[in-house]
Amino acid sequence: MCRYIFITSLFVLALSTQAEDLTSEQRSAIESRIKPAGKVCLLGQTNCGSGSVSTVSVGDTGLQPLSEKASSSAEGCSFDIEVGDSLQFSMEAMSVSASCRDITVNLRHTGNMPASAMGHNWVLTKDSDSAEVAADGADAGMDNDYVKPEDARVIAYTPLIGGGESTSITFSFDNLDSSSEYIFFCSFPGHSFVMRGVLKIA
Ligand code: CO
Repeated sequence: MCRYIFITSLFVLALSTQAEDLTSEQRSAIESRIKPAGKVCLLGQTNCGSGSVSTVSVGDTGLQPLSEKASSSAEGCSFDIEVGDSLQFSMEAMSVSASCRDITVNLRHTGNMPASAMGHNWVLTKDSDSAEVAADGADAGMDNDYVKPEDARVIAYTPLIGGGESTSITFSFDNLDSSSEYIFFCSFPGHSFVMRGVLKIA
């Protein structure tokens, strides 16, 4: 107990000695560091003080939002395409960057109808092959996602999906050549005549 009081009083003595050692200049120097020199304005506040107060906006920091960086690294290599209860892709043309190693297509059916009535897929062929591939796909039936099995003319395709479903396909850029024209379409019987678009290499 005695020891505790002794140590405590030593500590208080040390503190007060330190405080007394400071000159008035040193104290004011310390206080100026603790207190902000000017008024602090909130962003967007216009009448909070003189013009000497500076505000920092997010753009001045040089930092980029993470999501922006992520999407730019995949720019032209990954595509989010939506379909619904109508014969339409949300994208009529796809521009694939020549710098892509792989290409990803994410297909989402935002409608309510089942695949048997309003099914959609995403099939990629050369323009010259698209009509025959669609016809053969219709014959292949729904069990085969309306794509003829082992069809070498099909460069890539997703499974057939209905309302509320999503699917995805990733394929190598090496399967494309810049001298060909490519068409993507839905091979559900009757859809390919209107559900189609052009894929270009940029
Ligand atoms: Co369709």
